[in-house]
Amino acid sequence: MTAAIATAQGVGHTRIHGIGAFRPSRIVTNDEICEHIDSSDEWIRTRSGIIERRFAEPHETVQMMSVEASRKALQRADVDPGQIDCVIVATVSHLLQTPAVATLVAEELGCTPAPAFDISAACAGFCHGVSLASDMIRSGNGKYVLVIGVERLSDITDPTDRGTAFIFADGAGAVVIGPADVEGIGPVVWGADGSKFDLIRQNETWIDVLDMEEPEMPTLRMDGNPVFRWASFEMAKVAREALDRAGMTVDDLDVFVPHQANMRIIDAMARALKLPEHVVIARDIAYQGNTSAASVPLAAAALLESGEAKSGDTALFIAFGAGLSYAAQVVTLP
Ligand code: COA
Repeated sequence: MTAAIATAQGVGHTRIHGIGAFRPSRIVTNDEICEHIDSSDEWIRTRSGIIERRFAEPHETVQMMSVEASRKALQRADVDPGQIDCVIVATVSHLLQTPAVATLVAEELGCTPAPAFDISAACAGFCHGVSLASDMIRSGNGKYVLVIGVERLSDITDPTDRGTAFIFADGAGAVVIGPADVEGIGPVVWGADGSKFDLIRQNETWIDVLDMEEPEMPTLRMDGNPVFRWASFEMAKVAREALDRAGMTVDDLDVFVPHQANMRIIDAMARALKLPEHVVIARDIAYQGNTSAASVPLAAAALLESGEAKSGDTALFIAFGAGLSYAAQVVTLP
């Protein structure tokens, strides 16, 4: 008789045990951005809410920023690198196609031989990673999982492109996810709409670049206004669904951490959700710009560091971007 395959034995609940952030040292003002585009500090502030952002210096690589953010998350979680059963890196700006940067991050941290891989879901990548990690632990395929959102978008942004030059920025955020006595990560609501693939994308494929007479590094292009409308209206519905699936209403929330794409999108979502006054809203975009996969963990870490949010608070995470793709979940802050 054929032996039956054993089922992995998981746990009932998961939570975020620790969070860490890395913000590059170089501050870039709107005036510096306007040296290359026809714009103004006032236009950028009023249309996007961005006052300044940070660009990585040469030594602040995707690997280095990931390791620094992860060390803080591991320390705060009181988990040793050797206890990590998987390392997931969400990024679109590690410019070596293969192998995954997660393997180098895991090796430098001391997590080897934990499995390590990258995921590409653009700005929604970190929230995808949180869901994957939580499900791995629930299903018994690991106890502690490190999830990192990291970008060096300054490498793939055209400083002369008026539609993107003032938006994108660099940084890293990391969380350690593990088992819990009570639920700390709600059901994910996620999806993708490939019919809107062209709205935010790398302008050329590497093959196209090879065919050019004067090859140029591919950069990001965005059709900002349709993305703005999609994010402001459709994403509030996704956020509400994530609350419903967690069995909660806006009154149960302490903190709202949306992807830091544009301050006006954050305000529109807060209005559409009818967030009560007591809910703290992450507005990290003012000083960090849009850091894609890093934006949600950076914004959550900033609220915890400033004391505006505290450990044990109930937060709604929602991230969205190229794909178009999105993911949202209710979590307990570490
Ligand atoms: N500086 C000055 N003026 C600019 C400009 C810039 N950098 N970029 C565009 N404009 C002008 C346009 O030419 C247009 O002028 P006109 O009215 O004379 O034609 C006007 O500003 C409005 O342009 P529009 O593109 O409609 O602006 P907007 O209100 O949509 O704001 C974004 C532009 C990019 C800030 C906004 O669309 C946005 O934030 N989109 C979403 C970004 C996002 O969420 N990305 C998510 C995934 S990463």
